[in-house]
Amino acid sequence: MIGFLVKKLIGSKNDREIRRLRPLVARINEIEAGLSSLSDDDLRRKTAEWKARLSQIRDNAELAAALDELLPEAYAVVKNVCRRLTERRAEVVVRGHTIVWDMIPFDVQIIGAIALHQGKIAEMATGEGKTLVATMPVYLNALTGRGVHVVTVNDYLAQRDSEWMGAIYKFLGLTVGCIVHDQPPAVRREQYACDITYGTNAEFGFDYLRDNGMALRKEDQVQRGHYFAIIDEVDSILIDEARTPLIISGPAVRTFDDQYLRWKPAVESLVRAQQRLCEQFLEQARKLIQQLRPADGRRPENAEELEMEIGLLLYRVKMGQPKSEGLLRLLEDPENLRLMNRAELELHKDQKKAELFRQKEELYFAIDEKSHDADLTEKGRMFLSPNDPDAFMLPDITLALHEIESDPNLDARGRLEAKTRLQQEFEAKAQKIHAISQLLKAYCLYERDVEYVVQDGKVIIVDEHTGRLMPGRRWSDGLHQAVEAKEGVTIERETQTLATITIQNYFRMYQKLAGMTGTAETEAQEFWDIYKLGVLVVPTNKPVRRIDYNDSVYKTKREKFAAVLREIKEIHAQGRPILVGTISVEVSEMLSRMLRKEGLVHSVLNAKYHQQEAEIIARAGQRGAITIATNMAGRGTDIKLGPGVAELGGLHVIGTERHEARRIDRQLRGRCARQGDPGSSHFFISLEDDLMRLFGSDRIVKYMERMGLEEGQELQHPLLNRSIEQAQKRVEQHNFQIRKRTLEYDDVMNRQREVIYGFRNEILRADNVRDRLLEIIEEVVVQKVQQFTTDDEEFDRWNVRGLADWVNLTFPLGLTEAQVLEVARKGGDLPPRDSLYDGLSAAQYAVARWIVEGVRRAYELKVSFEDPEQLKVLERYTILSAVDRLWQEHLYEMDSLRYSIGLRGYGQRDPLIEYKAEAYKLFEDLMTNIKSEICHNIFRSATSLLAFESFLQSIPKQLLHQSASAFGGQGASDSAGGSKAEEVVREAAAAVEKSQPVRVGPKVGRNDPCPCGSGRKYKHCHGR
Ligand SMILES: Nc1ncnc2c1ncn2[C@@H]1O[C@H](COP(=O)(O)OP(=O)(O)OP(=O)(O)O)[C@@H](O)[C@H]1O
Ligand SMILES: [Mg+2]
Repeated sequence: MIGFLVKKLIGSKNDREIRRLRPLVARINEIEAGLSSLSDDDLRRKTAEWKARLSQIRDNAELAAALDELLPEAYAVVKNVCRRLTERRAEVVVRGHTIVWDMIPFDVQIIGAIALHQGKIAEMATGEGKTLVATMPVYLNALTGRGVHVVTVNDYLAQRDSEWMGAIYKFLGLTVGCIVHDQPPAVRREQYACDITYGTNAEFGFDYLRDNGMALRKEDQVQRGHYFAIIDEVDSILIDEARTPLIISGPAVRTFDDQYLRWKPAVESLVRAQQRLCEQFLEQARKLIQQLRPADGRRPENAEELEMEIGLLLYRVKMGQPKSEGLLRLLEDPENLRLMNRAELELHKDQKKAELFRQKEELYFAIDEKSHDADLTEKGRMFLSPNDPDAFMLPDITLALHEIESDPNLDARGRLEAKTRLQQEFEAKAQKIHAISQLLKAYCLYERDVEYVVQDGKVIIVDEHTGRLMPGRRWSDGLHQAVEAKEGVTIERETQTLATITIQNYFRMYQKLAGMTGTAETEAQEFWDIYKLGVLVVPTNKPVRRIDYNDSVYKTKREKFAAVLREIKEIHAQGRPILVGTISVEVSEMLSRMLRKEGLVHSVLNAKYHQQEAEIIARAGQRGAITIATNMAGRGTDIKLGPGVAELGGLHVIGTERHEARRIDRQLRGRCARQGDPGSSHFFISLEDDLMRLFGSDRIVKYMERMGLEEGQELQHPLLNRSIEQAQKRVEQHNFQIRKRTLEYDDVMNRQREVIYGFRNEILRADNVRDRLLEIIEEVVVQKVQQFTTDDEEFDRWNVRGLADWVNLTFPLGLTEAQVLEVARKGGDLPPRDSLYDGLSAAQYAVARWIVEGVRRAYELKVSFEDPEQLKVLERYTILSAVDRLWQEHLYEMDSLRYSIGLRGYGQRDPLIEYKAEAYKLFEDLMTNIKSEICHNIFRSATSLLAFESFLQSIPKQLLHQSASAFGGQGASDSAGGSKAEEVVREAAAAVEKSQPVRVGPKVGRNDPCPCGSGRKYKHCHGR
């Protein structure tokens, strides 16, 4: 009742609004009448003058006012052009067919057109001519020169409408373009350069993502701004499509898809060999245990030795076959477990590294369950490739590069070639080793039906905390593929998200937004809440003569479809065309089979082939036509009645189910009785339909039972329709809440995206980024100085070592601790207020400035070696690639965060708040990481070998550090304890000393759950 009153109120508000626009329409018509005396050229000249004037206005408010003022005249011009085209029977070629122009906007169309200019949604029934309506606001706003976008639901409509309506624009001297799938960037840029651009929401959105998230040069960007978009079928785009974000995904940076199958047999036999080996170790261990603890309970003399030996054997098995049952059984005895742990602890003491290495070498490969490493040993390499064990050993790249560099027999070109070859070789080997390592893990750490299950030929992860299956989720870094290879199912190509945005957030970027559709009213609240779009319901040109029958309700689906078939036959017999709407492709196909059995000729549409479907739909109004269509099919094409059909009663629409949203049902109904034609609609429902089962009020069911409904009997009553609509409203509300929630989450991401894209564009568009680059270096240096030092002058509390290491690992400076201290002691002025250095003490400031100066000098030296133009490109690239790589990684992290927050139950806290907090932290990390990565890369790239840089990026950090110390870092000393950086240096140096092979065995992904079982991500736990 209340709802009814509200509706009444809204209804009358709408009426008032329409009444208010009538005088303006009259004025437009009046002006239009006066235009007839002008020549075509006069109209064109007017357009050119307006455009020249409006495109000068920079201020948005001023521009809006100027447009409002010009509206009547501009709309009149469009109407007048339509009149001229009509009078001349102008021919327009649209999608290969010639159409004779015969449209002059009706008054209601002008009303709709005004609403669009005002940034509203014009609700106009199907067949009211919305395509033409859009031309008026499009023309007016295109005069600003800022580019107007018209958004359609599919490529076919974009092309159709741009060609069709292009007649008006071209007549007036404006340019019109169209974006479709498969256009190369150069073509796209031309289309966007037009005054008016038609295209689908996906194309517009993807272009935005490519421009801002991927383009490496400003010449590669195609869009030129987001001024005004008019969205056709706006409900479909902003509500239905908005559920799935736009995602550009690409092949993951490192994939080794083909490697897994290739190495599977070898790894299988390797794993078997290892199992046999571990069996032997266990056997030995069991014997020794008997000696250690004989039946008579005596403690043997060599107990110490035995204990150590047993511990080592058990630990070896743990490294070799961590999931071995024999091992687990032995470890059930806590005494054995103690022995093993002791051995492990002992081996991990610093001075025991060599012994640990020796222990591993007893095996074919060693697996570290904690860090998820799997490394081949010498023995394993021999096993796989007896003739060439080096095949699985990475060359020392730093050394090799150095050798090439100092080879007197090579000229510059020869050196370049040699380096490239070396890199390729290195990468090929790294891939091989990586694949083997992942396969080893797949076989040794991941058990079927524990960590994952195999269903329908897919490997599905089992969530370790909840035990739930996680379809669609994949382990990263090739592990998933390795498991797929192991299980013999299809190996799916690894992809990663490169850029993503929701439709909502894309369209919210436009300065002005408007939309049109046949059905918006029911979702008015959502349009307003989310897009600030009001809805104006525009009356039809002619009164609607459609007859809507009461819904027919049946107990079962079977009875329902039998009734549908009866009705189709009956109406078909009268010669009337019929459109049957379904909510899914399956139902369409089932119905089609039923009709075929009855020998009824019909067409089936399921929104796949837009052009053909538009043509079929256009014929659906012919005598005797039967057309089955799912919701979306043929939207945007109206069904005109064939000769004689109106006399028979026009098109009859049958709905085979009520959709969740009333809007979709109204859309289907609206397919008939266009422009005052006769027509009728009838929905069939069964109590087994999802909507009824899930949301149908019990009232209906009870009512039906009370009526004692029998097999095949149907029920009809206006009250029933109302109940069903109630159910639909509940679902609509529910879905709206979900979409709103999604958006709230995405808002967080959206702000981050704005920052990143803003930064990226600044870099992309700047002529010279060197200053920005040096600024970034400065920022990072200041931050590091703060991290390693204190702002009091107690230098012994400073971690000078850590600072020096960081500098030496990052820049080619090679400064010493003593130098740092010397500069610090000398001190100097305090940093200037509000400078980058603000907040540092005098000593910190001196040190920071000294480092920055050093870097600056080193950079100048580098500059002097390089080609200046190419260096500019390289500098930009260094920044962009760091931004992109880490942002893409960040996208993945945000996604996982979102997912894990979703799993964390609600408890007392609002998951959204938690999400925001964590997302903020992640973003801070991201910004820091980007800057450090830029510092890290800037000296590691050279214009002559662009690839070198990306190559360096793709190899593990440990190696980077090694090559870094080759820049003249002071290397390792034996000083104990200290920072992480220190350890890195020490380990790296140790590795170099022993000239051990460097193994590319990627660790647990930073986003994988930490192997320690804390349930947190690795990087937030042990991976810190
Ligand atoms: N002012 C007019 N005078 C005569 N015919 C018109 C006029 N406006 C539109 N039409 C015709 O009406 C038909 C429907 O137009 P259009 O496809 O633009 O409708 P629509 O409102 O977009 O419908 P849908 O909801 O199906 O997309 C077209 O054949 C078009 O030629
Ligand atoms: Mg349309």
